[in-house]
Amino acid sequence: MSTFPLRPRDVFEELRRTVVGQDEAIRELSVALVKHLVGHPAPNILLIGNSGSGKTTLMRAVEHFLASRPELRTYYANVVRINANVLAEEHQGYGKAVLGRLYTNARKAMGEGASQEDLLRSVEHGIVFIDEVDKIRAQVSGQPNVRGIVAQEALLTLMENENVEFEIDGERHAVNSSNVLFVAGGAFEELYDAVLRRATIGQDVAPMKPVVVVSASGEVREELPFHLRDYLRYDDLFRYGMTPQFTSRFESIVVLNDLAEGDLARIFVEPEGSIFRASRDYFKRFGIDLQITRGALMAIAWEASQQKRLGARALRETYRRIISAMEFEPANGGVLTIDEQMVKKAKR
Ligand SMILES: Nc1ncnc2c1ncn2[C@@H]1O[C@H](COP(=O)(O)OP(=O)(O)OP(=O)(O)O)[C@@H](O)[C@H]1O
Ligand SMILES: [Mg+2]
Repeated sequence: MSTFPLRPRDVFEELRRTVVGQDEAIRELSVALVKHLVGHPAPNILLIGNSGSGKTTLMRAVEHFLASRPELRTYYANVVRINANVLAEEHQGYGKAVLGRLYTNARKAMGEGASQEDLLRSVEHGIVFIDEVDKIRAQVSGQPNVRGIVAQEALLTLMENENVEFEIDGERHAVNSSNVLFVAGGAFEELYDAVLRRATIGQDVAPMKPVVVVSASGEVREELPFHLRDYLRYDDLFRYGMTPQFTSRFESIVVLNDLAEGDLARIFVEPEGSIFRASRDYFKRFGIDLQITRGALMAIAWEASQQKRLGARALRETYRRIISAMEFEPANGGVLTIDEQMVKKAKR
């Protein structure tokens, strides 16, 4: 048996370059990924995290990672990412939507000369990301949601099924999908509220008391020490509208962290293609060297952190208010430093 060239930690370190503050989720995914790549059984993973916490970013980071490593081509690295909503719209059948795409991927990666057997083996060991899985809940506001029910059932037949049929280019194929790795993600917004309510009124648990928090920028506020992962149970997911059969196919449920100010500051500057890096590139076109002070960075992160429901998406909006005038009329050359004053002045 040949040795695998990567350890889960290597994958973890690589993914962390783009995904900030979600070490637990990345760790879980890295181990599952390495197991899957070498053909070991790997747990299906359900990622639950507030909007803008990095679920889609993490899935894309994995896709990018697999695509950027040609040495992984001989392993099971065939991956597709599908939006659950799109899946629910798929009238030609889910098999075609998911397995057909894995098949097309495999053909692209292996070339036209690949044997049917190899292509189908690659499909049978595919990696399927299902994003926005919370959109296919079985009921919405107490009413049954037929699209959701149908989509969940269809996914169920895709998971661990020994004989799933799909059609591509007019040819029918049947595969055993029990070795496909599923990673689903969603914000489950009302789930958060429902569990929070349960925790606040102390239903089945001791009621929470607010605690005083001092932020990195020195502001003081009261907060509830609520972390979904401390309170979440399978029952909560059932009540939300994920059927027990579907939910129980995910052996691993990971709740992503809410991003703290420090994480937001790092997201703003560090990852390749970060907001600040992109902005620096823009100003460089006019010969301007864009800089930012530590104070300004923390102030931006603080402001963004106030818009809890947006997660890291709030950074973009906060920054736009500060920079838009200068983007419209950039000076001619020189250094442009964003300082704390500029952030304060741009407040709504
Ligand atoms: N943990 C993170 N690390 C790095 N960047 C992040 C992170 N979370 C969010 N971002 C940034 O914020 C933007 C939105 O994040 P993303 O799309 O991953 O959110 P999401 O969790 O999928 O939210 P939604 O539930 O609304 O789909 C991304 O473009 C990314 O740049
Ligand atoms: Mg997303």
